[in-house]
Amino acid sequence: MDFQIFSGKAADLNTDRLVVTLAKDDTLSASASELDQASSGAITARIKGGDIKGTPGTTLALYGLSGINAERVVLAGSGSAPLNRVDAGKVVSAIASSIAGKGGSAAVDLGALASDDMPEAWWAEQLVLAIHAAEYKYSLTKSGAESAPALETLTWIGNDVTDTLKTADAKGQGTSYAKELGNLPPNICTPAYLAEQSESLSNDAGFNCRVYDQEELKDMGAGAFYSVAKGSSEPGKIIIMEYKGAGDAPAHMIVGKGITFDTGGISLKPGAKMDEMKYDMCGAASILGTMKTIALLKPAINVVAVITTAENMPAGNASKPGDVVTTLSGQTVEILNTDAEGRLVLCDALTLAIREHKPETCVDVATLTGACMAALGKVNSGLFTSDEDLAAELTTAGMYSGDRVWRLPLEEDYQGGLDSNFADMANIGGPLAGATTAACFLSRYTQDTRWAHVDIAGPAWGGDGTSKGSTGRPVPLLTTYLLNKIQ
Ligand code: BES
Ligand code: MN
Ligand code: ZN
Repeated sequence: MDFQIFSGKAADLNTDRLVVTLAKDDTLSASASELDQASSGAITARIKGGDIKGTPGTTLALYGLSGINAERVVLAGSGSAPLNRVDAGKVVSAIASSIAGKGGSAAVDLGALASDDMPEAWWAEQLVLAIHAAEYKYSLTKSGAESAPALETLTWIGNDVTDTLKTADAKGQGTSYAKELGNLPPNICTPAYLAEQSESLSNDAGFNCRVYDQEELKDMGAGAFYSVAKGSSEPGKIIIMEYKGAGDAPAHMIVGKGITFDTGGISLKPGAKMDEMKYDMCGAASILGTMKTIALLKPAINVVAVITTAENMPAGNASKPGDVVTTLSGQTVEILNTDAEGRLVLCDALTLAIREHKPETCVDVATLTGACMAALGKVNSGLFTSDEDLAAELTTAGMYSGDRVWRLPLEEDYQGGLDSNFADMANIGGPLAGATTAACFLSRYTQDTRWAHVDIAGPAWGGDGTSKGSTGRPVPLLTTYLLNKIQ
């Protein structure tokens, strides 16, 4: 997508689709009323005729208006100020679907909607992300799926927000990449596939990339990781990508859970909707999506990106409930439930990556617990940290990007739930506070690091039947969080 900025008269703009807004009480925005005058009242006539009201989420296309250069004018309902974020999302999505996937050019004036809370640059970013969302469609394994032509040129009517548009474009590409990886079937998107993707992205972008394979990890003493990976014929891997955009400055680490299929192992999951456990690698997908954005923008920060990937399968050589394993940290774990595998592959990856790279901060993202989804639904991810600054940074990034997080407790009182008779800790707590006990488990492997855990079990994918799909979250959260670190 190419970007242009325009601050002249809307009627003069040559474009395929010219989008202007209409508020709830039929108030035309400045450019809409300018177009209305230029076309001798063609817009007010349609409003009087009841063809459109200013409801958020509605649009009306008007063709061939005299006195206006644009091929079509699209009127978009924008509700009444101040808009809440849900309505703002509806406005932007409706506009995006009216201009995305048709090729050609569009110009958009959202100037009337800017507020202290949602400034012009925010609208610009949201619009570009919504265009990417509208243009993403899974097609790889569907016959005859022809791809719609992407919007070629977007003209922003207003102030010069070119940098914001370009940043948003990179975030959108990263998010769509994460969606695609999430949606891929689990017989294609295996741990080896995630490693290939990491290597090819790293080659293109000049990242350093190191792939630790299953046997090497076993020999190093990553017994928790190995206990999950060993039951599958697809070998597991830990992947570490390094981006240096800020010389010797300390790095910010992001870590993603990449279980490419979670059957539960010997603690087998029930059959209904088990296909959705292909999405158990959405943490890893968001790490790749975030690094795609970083590759496009080359920001002045250092990032270490970690993916811990395996299949969780039942097998003759799979781990059994009651097995005790020694983690890379030296601590021992009693595996009481083989379905609590995410924390097992994460703990060794955290130990390894922190030991090797000594990051300034570390944030892991994981589809870790059904309990977190039960608590927060698909709106917020769960945020667990005892670092107040990290909590604030992630909360702010979540609010701004719309990829929100909600803090849940990580207090000492919950640690006792992990007590085991036979090891230093068990891999599950009791039936209560399951998202927190999972976070407590991880906290034992990140003791001396500024660390936060984000449980994305709810937001990572959504929909049902033919609307089922990956959301690409938390790429908007992670990219916003990392880019906010630029001095
Ligand atoms: N990948 C699942 C968590 C999950 C389940 C995410 C459903 C999204 C939707 C994870 O590996 C898991 O199975 N967790 C168990 C933990 C339990 C055994 C302590 C869970 O949440 O049931
Ligand atoms: Mn599981
Ligand atoms: Zn899992």
